[in-house]
Amino acid sequence: MLTERLRPNIRALTPYSPGAARGGIRLDASENPFPWPEGLAAEIAAGLEPNRYPDGAATALREALAARFGLRREEIIAGNGSDELITLVLQTFGGPGRALLIQPPAFGVYAIAAAVTDTPLLEAPLAAEGQALDLDKMLALCRENPIAVIIVCNPNNPTGALFPREEIERLLRESGALVVVDEAYGEFAGAEASMLPFIHEYQNLLIMKTFSKAFGMAALRLGYICGPAEAVAMLDRARQTFNVNSFTQKAGLAVLRRAAAYEEQVAVLRAETERLYLGLKALPGLKVWPTRANFVLFRPRDAAGWCEALGARGFTVRLLERLPGLGSCLRVSAGTPEETGSFLRAAASIAQGEGGS
Ligand SMILES: Cc1ncc(COP(=O)(O)O)c(C=O)c1O
Repeated sequence: MLTERLRPNIRALTPYSPGAARGGIRLDASENPFPWPEGLAAEIAAGLEPNRYPDGAATALREALAARFGLRREEIIAGNGSDELITLVLQTFGGPGRALLIQPPAFGVYAIAAAVTDTPLLEAPLAAEGQALDLDKMLALCRENPIAVIIVCNPNNPTGALFPREEIERLLRESGALVVVDEAYGEFAGAEASMLPFIHEYQNLLIMKTFSKAFGMAALRLGYICGPAEAVAMLDRARQTFNVNSFTQKAGLAVLRRAAAYEEQVAVLRAETERLYLGLKALPGLKVWPTRANFVLFRPRDAAGWCEALGARGFTVRLLERLPGLGSCLRVSAGTPEETGSFLRAAASIAQGEGGS
């Protein structure tokens, strides 16, 4: 009875599963592993008025972001994590007859947001084992289909690849679509890799960013999109009135005031990611992908077995089964230097055990 009432697009979708939080050392969600500064949460909570609605426009936060990037407040919209903004983009610009183009293997939420908003989904799988966009295929799909939105994740989750700016510019010029560049991991690739400086050159460019990764706020849910004021105003029409709560808005401001400290953490995490990459590459039997994000994708002979073996040693990593074109892989994010060191020791002991069996 209920099944008949369920909308067909919701029936058809495979729900996104972020993976179980199994405790121990968590290297599965590409978060910032460093705890918050002592007293910061209390400082933010002080003076909060939980009985009052938040500022729905997140004015102070957007002004602070605008100052950071040399933009205007009208060129920024905040969301309850970038997850919310992915859906908002499709609520605003997608829907029946207005397809979304993605490049698998890609972040799972894109396909869910397409399903939820009844947006047809088209795929142009990555080339070169997940390292390159297949631009010819993408542009051919754009010529043949009514593609309204392209999302390019840069650096890409889960492969870690950074796609050249010239290729994204070609999409901006030739696709006829709105191009959303998801820079969730952009801080780890460095400011020179960001498309932010191009916002005023292209009317069809949106850049999506998050406080969940470099800025250590995954629990508080804060993402934002930068783009032409006209497109931002369109997104704002479909936005839920009070989508970002007061604590999170204040937390975003507090974190931006401490941006220099977070930039130091990013430098440490970049070094730890490199250490993870080199350490895994030195082990026998693993295919390891180069990365510009704060995680490393690798493929052992038995990914599920490795996930179990790491779990037994106290490490949670992300098992990504049957990734299109890549097979079953594991994604491990950079932890603190101590965590990375103990992870690499555990990985070495598993690889050695495999070699002996
Ligand atoms: C590529 C990508 N985009 C967006 C998100 C969502 O981030 P948020 O925590 O801001 O919703 C993630 C989270 O893992 C991600 O990997």
